[in-house]
Amino acid sequence: MVSTFQETKTKGFRPESEPINSKGLRLDPRGLLDIAEQKIDWDLLDTLAGRSLTSAQDLDRNLLGELCKLGCLLELTEIGQSHPLDGKTIITAFFEASTRTRLSFESAAHRLDAKVVSVPDGKVTGVAKGESLEDIGEMFNSYGDLVIMRHTETDSVERIQECLMRPLINAGNGSGEHPTQALVDWYALLKWRPDFLLPEPTKRPVHLGVIGTPGSMRAVKSFVFLALLFESHIERISIVSEMADPLGLELNKADQASTIPIQVCQDLDEVLPELDVVYMNSLAFLGDSYRDLDKSFRLHRDSPFKDGAIVMHPLARKNELDRNLDDTNKNLYFAQAAGAVFARQALLVSILGRLRALPDHLHYLTS
Ligand code: CP
Repeated sequence: MVSTFQETKTKGFRPESEPINSKGLRLDPRGLLDIAEQKIDWDLLDTLAGRSLTSAQDLDRNLLGELCKLGCLLELTEIGQSHPLDGKTIITAFFEASTRTRLSFESAAHRLDAKVVSVPDGKVTGVAKGESLEDIGEMFNSYGDLVIMRHTETDSVERIQECLMRPLINAGNGSGEHPTQALVDWYALLKWRPDFLLPEPTKRPVHLGVIGTPGSMRAVKSFVFLALLFESHIERISIVSEMADPLGLELNKADQASTIPIQVCQDLDEVLPELDVVYMNSLAFLGDSYRDLDKSFRLHRDSPFKDGAIVMHPLARKNELDRNLDDTNKNLYFAQAAGAVFARQALLVSILGRLRALPDHLHYLTS
């Protein structure tokens, strides 16, 4: 067996890591596989078969790590003739607009040879005539093997699950959660700092900054749920927000169970020079409307960043993240978006119980 993936020339792997984002940092998936000594816990991934993912809290640190390692393996692999999701039909039901989530899920599914039935806009369903989400869930039982749903309403997950018997992936529910965005975020972050997978830090723990209100920003909420699992690797979380309690009920509860201290501050430029990782988002959900990030929170090329700091953003962005950062080594957000296909492929193959349909050499090299 080869000693590291850096040296892998095995048939079925891409010979070089191909750049998949035009600007900013590019992340090599081999580092994460090497720090894990090329081992994947296939049995642990198998526990996802037939399960739903509706909250980031459905994942623990081990499962997140295994999904990210499998994503790295898939990023390096020519899937070729193995057709791992052949015979499976995936429903992407988007009752709210999306660029990245729907298209990266559909791209992931197509590249694994699943069939995709897509609802790109809820208005083209019976919703336009007053049909209930519960009844739509009942119909989905006979139309597909897995449902990926985005909706404007926070209770949409509970409502569709009243009748849906297929596994459900929550692709964003109002101000609720966006667990696969958090998976994608951590896929990028773990490729940037593979040592986070080790039980104890081998490098200095990071100071993580979150700009916004995680309590009402679903992607940020899911991201912070997972951040709280990395107690040895994150020394502190600073939330930069104009609100007195930006965490909200669920994150406050999760925070109490974690040893990572969380502080709230209002002055971005004061805390920015201390942050290693800066996570920002654009919009907060307020029931039936959105609110932009406070105008005082802007990042640009001349912001007072710490040396080596990186910026993450789930996108889409508005004015809070200046395009003049795109061409710098602060930009992790394009790599974040680019890795989405592979992290989501790992999830689809696991939930659909098709790990053994992946090319044999993946199992041989990593078991
Ligand atoms: N990050 C994210 O959820 O993007 P979309 O709204 O484009 O899916």
